[in-house]
Amino acid sequence: MNILVINGPNLNLLGIREPDIYGHETLSDIEKWLNDQEESNCHTITWFHSNHEGAIIDRLHEAMGNTDGIIINPGALTHYSFALRDAIASINIPTVEVHLSDIYSREVFRKVSVIKDVCIKQISGMGKIGYLEGVKKLSIISK
Ligand code: DQA
Repeated sequence: MNILVINGPNLNLLGIREPDIYGHETLSDIEKWLNDQEESNCHTITWFHSNHEGAIIDRLHEAMGNTDGIIINPGALTHYSFALRDAIASINIPTVEVHLSDIYSREVFRKVSVIKDVCIKQISGMGKIGYLEGVKKLSIISK
């Protein structure tokens, strides 16, 4: 499968950003780790990060016709971006929503995900393993 992994605002600061919540690993540490996992071997995994909502939406549109599955951690866009939700709903590519932290055990505003209903699965609070679970879920549904 061609899998696209998208990370949104502030996830480029992993390793520095609130390490008590998000851990000490950087986004590129997580990327290398995921690419090294056995489950990733049979897939082509492409990573994309942006702090900009429109750039993420453009990248989702570009995925049409060349991507079999998407794993997205939209950062705070999760909680309010109806434009991101519409983009995921429009492109017809199975998408897994991932959060490093448990969004249900934090502030009230984080408990709402406006993209949850347009994703095939939501994974929250498993740290980097959430991305691997995303790969596994996409593999299962492609069979
Ligand atoms: C996050 C959770 C969001 O609420 C937050 O805004 C993030 C990261 C997570 O991975 O736990 O930026 O998506």
